[in-house]
Amino acid sequence: MRVIITDDAKQAALEAAEIIISLIKRKPDCVLGLATGSTPIGLYEVLVEAFKSGEVSFSSVSTFNLDEYYDMSPEHHQSYRYFMDQHLFSKVDIKPENTFLPECSGKQSAEEVAKQYEMEIKRRGGIDLQLLGIGENGHIGFNEPGSSLASRTRLKTLTPNTLEANSRLFEDGEFQPTLAMTMGVGTIMDAKQVLILATGTNKSEAIGNMLLGSITSACPASILQMHPHVTAVIDRDASIDIENSDYFELSESNRRKL
Ligand code: PGA
Repeated sequence: MRVIITDDAKQAALEAAEIIISLIKRKPDCVLGLATGSTPIGLYEVLVEAFKSGEVSFSSVSTFNLDEYYDMSPEHHQSYRYFMDQHLFSKVDIKPENTFLPECSGKQSAEEVAKQYEMEIKRRGGIDLQLLGIGENGHIGFNEPGSSLASRTRLKTLTPNTLEANSRLFEDGEFQPTLAMTMGVGTIMDAKQVLILATGTNKSEAIGNMLLGSITSACPASILQMHPHVTAVIDRDASIDIENSDYFELSESNRRKL
């Protein structure tokens, strides 16, 4: 796994954005897998700036988000569709019909929505690059510990740990969903390239387990050890539990010299 350790979160956003920008330049009609959460906000800001300066266009790009709360209207300010519109889609030239989230109203069959989502990804040629955050419990998407490492898109129940971590985003007394549709671990592993971004000391244990722990559904992100093309961009705070972080820094510095 390529590991890029940066001094701070801002630098991590720049490094990660650079990887996405160079992909779009190489393949203007690429298929991006996207993530929500606090972590990628800085990265999306860099992408928006790159669009505004004319460096990159999203006009032929398609996107598939990792997850969406179950039975939440796309207009709801807590929906991930709303988040994506706010941070990226409304600020660049992406075509709304090329943006997908696993949106499922309570009236639809979750199995059918999941099946259609997987089919649409295939129809567009598969995901070229999947952006991921990581949960404090090692989840990727909403694949909580105990998720099958071969899972596909489906409805998942969020763990108390995830609900607690995300409660900061909800007002006191505001309804916080406990169910979400999420790409499966297997869906994520099918992406041609994976870019995982993590910042802050609260992510350091999960990052340590992802990189050098056993491959186990107790830390779903650990399956990325089996993927041939993963880049982890992490700030120094998130790197403190990596036993041999010096080695990863040396390796990256050699890579840049060669
Ligand atoms: P965060 O979420 O970026 O808000 O920390 C990441 C995740 O839970 O996957």
